[in-house]
Amino acid sequence: MQADQSGDEMVQISIEDEGPGIPSHLRERVFEKFFQANGRVRPSGRLEGIGMGLSIAKGIVEAHGGRIWIGDGVAGHGTRVSFTVPVGDDEPMSDKL
Ligand SMILES: Nc1ncnc2c1ncn2[C@@H]1O[C@H](COP(=O)(O)OP(=O)(O)O)[C@@H](O)[C@H]1O
Ligand SMILES: [Mg+2]
Repeated sequence: MQADQSGDEMVQISIEDEGPGIPSHLRERVFEKFFQANGRVRPSGRLEGIGMGLSIAKGIVEAHGGRIWIGDGVAGHGTRVSFTVPVGDDEPMSDKL
């Protein structure tokens, strides 16, 4: 996991795994509701999961004015999900605790 300042107003967070990765031609489509690219097949023949996770994540990130995308793992395999969100206003956090 990595966090970097991205310009003056945004922070960029990236989370990476060493799983099977997502083929580059499907890296936009996996954000669609119910779209599943691959994954473990249950005995019933259905895939694990329901294909909502990334779509919900995108909804939340975009509601905050950020962007979310998928890249290559740094070592050339796995999945790297990155998103930006605004740094926030200058109210100190302690005011809200
Ligand atoms: N970390 C990951 N590694 C490989 N493929 C992934 C990963 N995360 C998501 N995907 C692919 O994107 C699809 C959509 O993901 P998601 O919206 O989280 O739904 P779900 O996990 O319920 O299938 C998954 O079905 C899978 O094909
Ligand atoms: Mg998921």
